[in-house]
Amino acid sequence: MKRVNVNLGSRSYPIFIGAGISVRTGRIVAGLDIGTDAYVITNPLIQKKYGAALAASLRKAGLSVRFKNIADTEQSKSLSTAAAVLKDLAAFDKRKHIFIVALGGGVVGDLAGFVAAVYKRGIPYIQMPTTLLAQVDSSIGGKTAVDLPEGKNLVGAFYQPRAVITDVALLKSLHARQLRQGLAEVIKYGLIRDRQLFSYIENNMRRILSHDQAALTHIVERCSRIKAGIVSRDEREKKSLRTLLNFGHTIGHAIEAACDYCDYGHGEAVALGMLVAADISRQMRMLGEKAQERITRLIKAAGLPIKLRGVSLQKIISIHYRDKKFMAGKNRFVLLQAIGKAKVVSNVSLLIIQQAIKGSGTFNC
Ligand SMILES: NC(=O)c1ccc[n+]([C@@H]2O[C@H](COP(=O)([O-])OP(=O)(O)OC[C@H]3O[C@@H](n4cnc5c(N)ncnc54)[C@H](O)[C@@H]3O)[C@@H](O)[C@H]2O)c1
Ligand SMILES: [Zn+2]
Repeated sequence: MKRVNVNLGSRSYPIFIGAGISVRTGRIVAGLDIGTDAYVITNPLIQKKYGAALAASLRKAGLSVRFKNIADTEQSKSLSTAAAVLKDLAAFDKRKHIFIVALGGGVVGDLAGFVAAVYKRGIPYIQMPTTLLAQVDSSIGGKTAVDLPEGKNLVGAFYQPRAVITDVALLKSLHARQLRQGLAEVIKYGLIRDRQLFSYIENNMRRILSHDQAALTHIVERCSRIKAGIVSRDEREKKSLRTLLNFGHTIGHAIEAACDYCDYGHGEAVALGMLVAADISRQMRMLGEKAQERITRLIKAAGLPIKLRGVSLQKIISIHYRDKKFMAGKNRFVLLQAIGKAKVVSNVSLLIIQQAIKGSGTFNC
């Protein structure tokens, strides 16, 4: 079992990574001394697959267990679901010492983290991520949130978990498309911080896509180290360090919004956003053509889209201009200086952005 630490003084916590380690959850949690009664937030599909083994491990360590299922959609990240879970939690919480376990993908993790942050002004929680995206990204760093009809993640808090238990064996049941969505984020980490990780993905794509446990453990550990390092130094995105994690997301979010969150999944939109950001980097003479070609090849090999189709160019550009990450009216892009090296650049010319988006696909208008 590998261990990575998020260092935040008294709020520091470990990330445990390995294949098959979820059977040790009871022992790990008992060692943290965070409570005696586990309130496991998950969804029906994941409970059916992994609930019994988790409950057995927790009970064996002398802990009581109660499951709370939420519906398996992004709509579960809502104030109404949070209220329903909080009411159930309060009814369960009689003479107990409760902690929360978030067993699921990013939707479960964000909602469970939010509930943990606000119940009794904060109770301990554990992240047990079950998608590749959640393992390398959403389970680490303490960003918890629910959505409003007005926008995603508008209500939330920074609230760190007490541990992250990342069992890559749980990814076996993940659909190929979901695995690829997470792989887009893994490629992102390679591009912004770790050229060896990028080469490893180039050389081991087949193993990764066929759920090879050693390959998955390797990439999840590398990404967890990078995210833990960034969060430890810039927890609340006050410096530009945590901003680097938005590589590919500026245009990626605009693509998701322009096609109304349906045609492209998050990872697919981020893949296209990374290609646009790489092209902007090349146009600004920060990145060479060969590196840009390598990036396109890897994204293609991962089964992610390399051509944007069926979206309006104007819509992407106007949505991009409403991006909440704009500072004082100037746009901000994370651009590449090389594979493994990124920097935040502001005020990129609209002409260059348009050229890069135009070059990335075919458009309705
Ligand atoms: N907090 C953060 O820092 C952060 C970062 C990135 C994304 N997010 C959030 O994460 C969410 C997306 O998370 P996601 O991509 O994990 O999606 P998700 O949680 O919706 O899961 C995707 C699908 O995979 C299924 N699934 C999960 N684990 C499975 C498994 N082991 N086997 C089979 N099926 C499984 C789920 O039931 C669901 O149908 C978004 O709401 C996004 O805003 C948060
Ligand atoms: Zn993302």
